[in-house]
Amino acid sequence: MPPEDAYTATPFLPARGGLPALGKAAAACRGCPLHRDATQTVFGTGKATARVMLVGEQPGDQEDRQGTPFVGPAGHLLDRALADAGIDPAEAYLTNAVKHFKFTRAEPRKRRIHKAPTLREATACSPWLAAELKTVKPELLVVLGATAGKALLGASFRVTRVRGTLLEEEIHGRPQRLVATVHPSAVLRSDDREAAYQGLVSDLKTAARALE
Ligand code: URA
Repeated sequence: MPPEDAYTATPFLPARGGLPALGKAAAACRGCPLHRDATQTVFGTGKATARVMLVGEQPGDQEDRQGTPFVGPAGHLLDRALADAGIDPAEAYLTNAVKHFKFTRAEPRKRRIHKAPTLREATACSPWLAAELKTVKPELLVVLGATAGKALLGASFRVTRVRGTLLEEEIHGRPQRLVATVHPSAVLRSDDREAAYQGLVSDLKTAARALE
């Protein structure tokens, strides 16, 4: 059976090493079929000593091309919101629940349209996120949207129910402080973009206060 049909990244995880070893191993991951169409694995970025870890959904078109999370339009909005909330990006580790871009090709121009990952794909990828959490041990986790929330906290997770509140949950057997908020792409898609942006900043301010 090809490894991608097993839907788990576990056999690709390195036996030891820090973030560089993880990133190198993730580059060769074939734990689900998404690696076939994506340009490259987009692993997390930031220091192992980062105090806060932000977890998004999956790389978009720009991230897939550049190999770095949050460098496209959603990333620019997130950068601005972090600055407005008073969170220093140098203190942040940025990553995604799913490390490969998933898309459909829109004919006739063949634009690559982002497609949300399935729970099966997110579950297959979750050993990477678990390893990042175990390595960075952030003081605070910021969960950006439903895919990240479900990957970390289970299928019953609802952003609207818990957003903007400092929570403490057990994740992979370890107590973890976290704040959930909407995904920056949802702000970009919102009919009232300014109100949605202010909501994101307000939630991130809760995160900033938790880091004081
Ligand atoms: N959206 C995400 O969830 N992650 C990225 O890295 C970019 C866009």
